[in-house]
Amino acid sequence: MVKGKEIVLSGIRSTGNLHLGNYFGAIRNFIKMQHEYNCYFFIADYHSLTTHPHPKDLHANVKQVLVEYLACGIDPEVATIYIQSDLPEVAELYLLLNMNAYVGELERSTTFKEKVRKQPDNVNAGLLTYPVLMAADILIHRASYVPVGKDQEQHLEMARTFGNRFNRMYESELFPEPVAFNFGAQLVKIPGLDGTGKMGKSEGEGNAIFLADGPEVIRKKVMRAVTDEGPKMENQQKPEVIQNLFTMMNVVSRQETVQHFEEQYNTMKIRYGDLKKQLAEDVIAFAAPLRDKILELSANDAYLQKVAFEGADKARESASKTLSEARRLIGFRSF
Ligand code: TRP
Repeated sequence: MVKGKEIVLSGIRSTGNLHLGNYFGAIRNFIKMQHEYNCYFFIADYHSLTTHPHPKDLHANVKQVLVEYLACGIDPEVATIYIQSDLPEVAELYLLLNMNAYVGELERSTTFKEKVRKQPDNVNAGLLTYPVLMAADILIHRASYVPVGKDQEQHLEMARTFGNRFNRMYESELFPEPVAFNFGAQLVKIPGLDGTGKMGKSEGEGNAIFLADGPEVIRKKVMRAVTDEGPKMENQQKPEVIQNLFTMMNVVSRQETVQHFEEQYNTMKIRYGDLKKQLAEDVIAFAAPLRDKILELSANDAYLQKVAFEGADKARESASKTLSEARRLIGFRSF
């Protein structure tokens, strides 16, 4: 942790394995940022509780994200990596912020409305106050920059609202305004293999390629990716399903390979089977070293324990400062 550098914070919910979309859309950028900013990257396991994971799965889910963060190159000697539930300070700040978060504004959140629609039998209060917990994650370290995708913009806006409201109410400048941040890079949105939308773990088996997938699995998933009947005329615009395969190829394959298939497409000679075979091999070549690291780290519990422990320690230092200041401003005093 370096003093004087601006604070970056981001988290990933521990609800499954990380996939290529997470890597190219987020983690690759975290790795670059860690050297320029004072970075906190955490695993949002409190957040994962909204969907009631089975107790026997919870720890494994957290471990998986921790291992994959590390395998991708987030360096615990450089950035602060920690597990959300190791910082009860977050839960306390969440409680404090909840007193100034209004049900009406929480109900207007797009993600909340979507959850109500998608899972009507599990509209728990944790879902409603999800943005308050997320605000607590950010404000607890007084972070200024939050690398997140477009889908989290509204949550970030709410974090600004809650922080500003606290500042105004207690006449303080405790919380800076957090803003979305991409470190100058154009984020690559990796499409799913089912032809539409982005890669996601909730879109069903086969839509996402996980960093931990082995060669056979990757081959099978890529070969099953949706295509069409082929180009109808030369140089035609590619329909979404085909463009998706090229987008993926662009991030994992050599430029010559992409150009070769572009040309084949434009001259209507393309055989999707060949394209997919090549794409599969290039994804495998990209993922293989990550997978090796994932397997190696998964077997090294002593190291993971050290990382989690030291990360929690570093994170607690900053969190406890913010929390005591918030408590003091609210008026708590000890006897
Ligand atoms: N809500 C984020 C997501 O679903 C995860 C998250 C939780 C987060 N707390 C955060 C992201 C704080 C950035 C900062 O992707």
